[in-house]
Amino acid sequence: MTATALTAREFRNALGQFATGVTVVTVEREPGSVFGMTANAFTSVSLNPMLILICVDERAKILPLLHKKKRFGISVLKQGQQAVSEYFAQAEQNSEAEHRLGLRYRWTPEGVPILEDTVVQLSCSVVAAHAAGDHTIVVGEVEDAEIHGGEPLLFYRGEYRHIARQ
Ligand SMILES: Cc1cc2nc3c(=O)[nH]c(=O)nc-3n(C[C@H](O)[C@H](O)[C@H](O)COP(=O)(O)O)c2cc1C
Repeated sequence: MTATALTAREFRNALGQFATGVTVVTVEREPGSVFGMTANAFTSVSLNPMLILICVDERAKILPLLHKKKRFGISVLKQGQQAVSEYFAQAEQNSEAEHRLGLRYRWTPEGVPILEDTVVQLSCSVVAAHAAGDHTIVVGEVEDAEIHGGEPLLFYRGEYRHIARQ
């Protein structure tokens, strides 16, 4: 099959064969309030300096906040946190829903909100943003990382999975 014959559905199916973890990108929306977005397009980029990237849909509500605040958190979800992933994949976010889901944040001294009770938590500053098709590649320099452990939630072929030992 040539690239021109590829449909959007086939493209998504093809990329869905690549298993990923699931992260929540968090940013301060207003003083003391958080906006988050579920993202599996998360990759390590560089060791020195310590860089990661996330790919953010150009229509995503979090994008202007990332440009404005220039700092964000990334938390890798744990096995069993599908509801958290789904919550941050929709636009309507409010404190009652967060309370029901038992979500808690901690704030870094730089004012970055980080989602607690997750496998690993990074705080980053935005060092570059590159438009790429209908997404923006946001490059973050990692300022701090806390490993809390536990098994990660996986995303594969459009479904949530969990790790099993061989
Ligand atoms: C498992 C999963 C992974 C996702 N990964 C990304 C991603 O890497 N980048 C992205 O822009 N949106 C991703 N999304 C979609 C966003 O979470 C969100 O639904 C979308 O950006 C709409 O956001 P809005 O409410 O701000 O318009 C993902 C959704 C799910 C459920």
